[in-house]
Amino acid sequence: MCENIELSEPMHERTGIVSRQRCPPAVFEKVLIVGLGQLGLPVAKYVKEKGFDTYGYDSSTKAMDRAEKIGGIKKASNFSEFDIYILCVSTHKVEDIFSPQIDGLLSITDRISREAKNGALVSIESTIPDGTSSKVFELLNHRLHVVHAPHRWYALEEKEHGVNQLRVIGGVCDCCLRLGMQFYDGSSTCNNEKSEPYSDSFSLSSFSSSYSSFKSLGIPMHPVTKIEIAEITKIVENAHRYLQIAFAEELYLYCQANNINFPELRDALNTKWNVNILEPRDGIGGHCLPKDTKMFVQSSSRSKSIRSKILTAAMEVDQSYRRYRQIRGGNNDCSNSLHTRVGIVEDEISSFHPSLSQINSLENTEERS
Ligand SMILES: NC(=O)c1ccc[n+]([C@@H]2O[C@H](COP(=O)([O-])OP(=O)(O)OC[C@H]3O[C@@H](n4cnc5c(N)ncnc54)[C@H](O)[C@@H]3O)[C@@H](O)[C@H]2O)c1
Repeated sequence: MCENIELSEPMHERTGIVSRQRCPPAVFEKVLIVGLGQLGLPVAKYVKEKGFDTYGYDSSTKAMDRAEKIGGIKKASNFSEFDIYILCVSTHKVEDIFSPQIDGLLSITDRISREAKNGALVSIESTIPDGTSSKVFELLNHRLHVVHAPHRWYALEEKEHGVNQLRVIGGVCDCCLRLGMQFYDGSSTCNNEKSEPYSDSFSLSSFSSSYSSFKSLGIPMHPVTKIEIAEITKIVENAHRYLQIAFAEELYLYCQANNINFPELRDALNTKWNVNILEPRDGIGGHCLPKDTKMFVQSSSRSKSIRSKILTAAMEVDQSYRRYRQIRGGNNDCSNSLHTRVGIVEDEISSFHPSLSQINSLENTEERS
């Protein structure tokens, strides 16, 4: 609960229940976006376009210069006096983009904790493992509101799938969620109005109308009752995509091993109304899908009996597929070294798909033709 937020502060409330009677709409004006990379820069530009007084901060001065030049984003010299902090920093290890790490996010939180005014809103937009938002709230000494509003941003379709598209939002407390909804969506209405914690005598409709006169980002948001659901939603979305691609990879390898034309099989399968087999292309790319899938596997590993077996297998499939492609795309002569490498791939993948042991002989046939 936001128990340390002073009642004299503009966005005051003590507990979720009390806040429903006392939490007035907040006046959001000054916004700081922390992390101005691939995601943070379009976020900052969007926030500015919506009329907020927008500042940016990044540990890279190059990123700050670029944001100023391209988007007119003012450089923040300190972290005080902001109404909202939007965190878009990277959440992977510096030396390994596929491995999750939230150290940077926590160090930014530490700075906000020291410099921010009471009652400001911190929105984590970076992809994070479950439990991170509550940790951030603790580090802020319950002094600020915390929401998580993960992204579904897709660079190639920024108009339809950029900053403004249907997104999920969760708050550490009820009051955090309400302020988050006010800022993002422009309302405080929830899908689950009748379920806890929104089922007391507080009138959502009057609350909602009182919010409508305030400036917002105008993004349609899907609120959830626990912030962990918002955290898990993001990493499971990407884990699900990972599985779909891994299945296409495995099917491709199966086709190679059985002399079946993969594109023709795929076209035939996709004529069915509920089937959509993807193209495996170069393997599971970018850093978000592998990193976020790992985040979910690590999360599931905390409870040993639930550790995701299917995702672990999917990761093995992707590795085998990539090796196979690497060898196919590399040296085309019939040298012994190539045959040896194909043999290694065969050993690795035949353990999860026996028919793939035929790849070696098929590969040799193709090389001769
Ligand atoms: N790019 C996407 O398509 C996309 C989509 C959905 C979610 N995300 C998530 O958004 C987050 C950011 O991704 P991105 O693609 O923008 O990464 P990025 O590497 O392009 O940008 C991250 C920025 O954060 C800065 N940064 C890192 N640590 C910092 C710190 N401690 N203090 C200040 N600045 C710091 C870096 O200098 C960099 O400019 C990640 O969690 C990612 O998983 C990205």
